[in-house]
Amino acid sequence: MTERPLTMAVPKGRILKVLAPLFERAGIDTTPLFADDRKLIRTTADGRVSFVFLKPDDVPTYVEYGAADVGISGRDTLLEKSFDLYTPIDLGIGRCRLVVAAPEGRVIPVVPRIATKFPRIAAEHFAKQGVQAEIITVHGSVEIAPLVGLAHAIVDLVETGATLRENHLDVREIVAEVSTLFIANRASYKLRSDAIRPLVERLRLAVAVS
Ligand code: PRP
Repeated sequence: MTERPLTMAVPKGRILKVLAPLFERAGIDTTPLFADDRKLIRTTADGRVSFVFLKPDDVPTYVEYGAADVGISGRDTLLEKSFDLYTPIDLGIGRCRLVVAAPEGRVIPVVPRIATKFPRIAAEHFAKQGVQAEIITVHGSVEIAPLVGLAHAIVDLVETGATLRENHLDVREIVAEVSTLFIANRASYKLRSDAIRPLVERLRLAVAVS
């Protein structure tokens, strides 16, 4: 009997282009990653891997519940909610930082209002410092919040720094270093170890030479 393909949850979007060379080096066929259709599940020609294309925030949920055996997820998403997952490899791609940023030259008040896509990370960050921050959850374009008076500061991701610069905000604190991780469902890691362990080893080597 042929084994079913390994199901891999991957985030839709720009990270796929960075992921592809790493996958190629690890011997994973990346053709299905870039097919020009609207299919949300695509299997490699050798039938070994089925890619499931998801919103980045949903990847760990599918993997935790075993709807996907393995997946690719940012550390930011994993920090924001607690997932029961195995995280065998830091892929070293998608590097960025979670920071506190505020308008240039403006003092952040003692009890600040903070806009963020990461309410839990932000709340924990300020609680650790004994700061009673009011956290306001937004879902994108976070940098605009302090410019229009929604918040005094933001907790958000910075990659090149261009968005902060162009909106006249500067970094006040670094909250966490972020990168992309290979994650695995705990049961799959044991039951499909024949497929997952060699894949993990090949990915480790691919990361080491990159
Ligand atoms: C992310 C992040 C920042 C920006 C940082 O947003 O939330 O806004 O990228 O990148 P930079 O430092 O290279 O400018 P994204 O583009 O994902 O869109 P969003 O604002 O809609 O969340």
